[in-house]
Amino acid sequence: MSVFDQRAESWDANPRRRELARHVFETMTRLVAWDRSWRVLDAGAGTGLLTLAVASRVAHVTAVDTSPKMLEVLAAKAAGLPITTMLKPLEALGLPAVPFDAVVSSMALHHVTDTAAALASFGRVLRPGGHLLLADLDREDGTFHEDNTGVAHFGFDQTALSAALSDAGFSDVSFVNAWNMPKTITDGTVRTFPIFCLHARVPER
Ligand SMILES: C[S@@+](CC[C@H](N)C(=O)[O-])C[C@H]1O[C@@H](n2cnc3c(N)ncnc32)[C@H](O)[C@@H]1O
Repeated sequence: MSVFDQRAESWDANPRRRELARHVFETMTRLVAWDRSWRVLDAGAGTGLLTLAVASRVAHVTAVDTSPKMLEVLAAKAAGLPITTMLKPLEALGLPAVPFDAVVSSMALHHVTDTAAALASFGRVLRPGGHLLLADLDREDGTFHEDNTGVAHFGFDQTALSAALSDAGFSDVSFVNAWNMPKTITDGTVRTFPIFCLHARVPER
């Protein structure tokens, strides 16, 4: 059982997580004009804190995650909503029957060892002109998580991530700050962890 399976039931009870999802959704909403016709994939959707907000603005969201328990919590909240869950690693997404208009993701990429495989996966499932909106930690010193089990990256350097996005075929890459998250770390001090939100496009053919 993964750490996310263990934490799934209590995940949403943490107000900081809900606040982060709100900041991320608001930032994404400033970066793109959601369209009622869009089909969106949420990569590392967890309990759906971002998924449900996005689903309120588009036609359908596919919520992908590797944790069955996180997806169970999401599915219980998504009853009657245009949301489908998919238990799959985000770095191994196959070609969809119909390509997605947008991929969104919040705080999942730093848990994925092979960043290039994840970005290639996102490019594979998006239509030409499709949008990638991804929020995650700026480079940090390893103190963000109390326990770094399952943490593959201590945040990301924006220049390096931008280069990786270009290598994966994305264009028009831009970064904005989504939130400076205050958090008490294990030594009891309060630190501020900047969260970026990037927007990138798959080039039109
Ligand atoms: C920090 S949580 C964020 C969840 C949600 N996006 C949110 O903002 O509340 C990270 C999520 O990524 C999922 N995850 C980790 N590695 C993954 C992978 N390789 N493929 C898909 N999901 C993954 C975890 O199971 C977990 O639900």
